[in-house]
Amino acid sequence: MLAFDSVCRRFKDGTVAVKDVSLNIPQGEFCVLLGPSGAGKSTLMNMINGVVEPTSGKVHFDGEPITRSNLRQFQRHVGMIHQQLHLIPRLSVLHNVLSGLLPDKSLLRSLLKSFPKEDQLKAFELLNEVGLEQKHLMRRASELSGGQQQRVAIARAFVSSPKVVLADEPVASLDPAMSRSVLNSLKAAAKHHGATVVCTLHQLDYALEFADRIVALRAGEVFFDGSPAELDNQTQRAIYAFTQTEGQEKSELALEEVAA
Ligand SMILES: Nc1ncnc2c1ncn2[C@@H]1O[C@H](COP(=O)(O)OP(=O)(O)OP(=O)(O)O)[C@@H](O)[C@H]1O
Ligand SMILES: [Mg+2]
Repeated sequence: MLAFDSVCRRFKDGTVAVKDVSLNIPQGEFCVLLGPSGAGKSTLMNMINGVVEPTSGKVHFDGEPITRSNLRQFQRHVGMIHQQLHLIPRLSVLHNVLSGLLPDKSLLRSLLKSFPKEDQLKAFELLNEVGLEQKHLMRRASELSGGQQQRVAIARAFVSSPKVVLADEPVASLDPAMSRSVLNSLKAAAKHHGATVVCTLHQLDYALEFADRIVALRAGEVFFDGSPAELDNQTQRAIYAFTQTEGQEKSELALEEVAA
């Protein structure tokens, strides 16, 4: 359903964020991208919604290469969940979810009142599905806790019936219990709606718990690609042994350990 075909991304300042990555992500898979800060996770993910264009290689969506001219047709099938919640603080929970149906946010004010009943029902159902109680529906988003806001963001991402949901560090600002609960809601919603999820996480524990598949990047390259069960302790350590500040040496030491 998603295929990265030898994609690279070099930024203007010379930074090579993604180096020759090839991956196939089947429909319905919950794929977690792991890797230290700067490994290229967000850059790779952002190639799926066109925020980042590969400098070489191609991304295929349902077998078709994404190009500048057909990008919009794919964007309609992609839902987004961010670490910064990006809800509209003054709007109600319900209206925030419905805003996921609007391609152009500048139209928001004029259109919000005219959503058909079926859209409103869908938003209700989604909020219920992600565990947000009915009593919160008409509250302003800014009055909700971080965990509640992230549930609204999940409902918003699914309201347009996307084929793919991209979640960039969706639980980075939540405590462990809330993180698990939010990831459970995300996974359940994805399975229920048959959506493919690409999710970046910094917490290895959650990746092991929730992912169908883990892809670990290091310095822009795929370092590990497999199921959580296949990710052994040494490989886990080696993923994080490389950071930009600590440099290559430490990473090489860890690699030797894996090889030994
Ligand atoms: N627009 C840009 N211009 C220049 N360099 C960029 C740009 N976006 C990202 N980079 C660089 O590309 C590399 C990969 O960044 P990216 O944001 O993909 O990492 P990440 O794995 O998502 O990190 P984090 O876990 O901190 O979110 C970094 O070195 C980053 O500084
Ligand atoms: Mg990132």
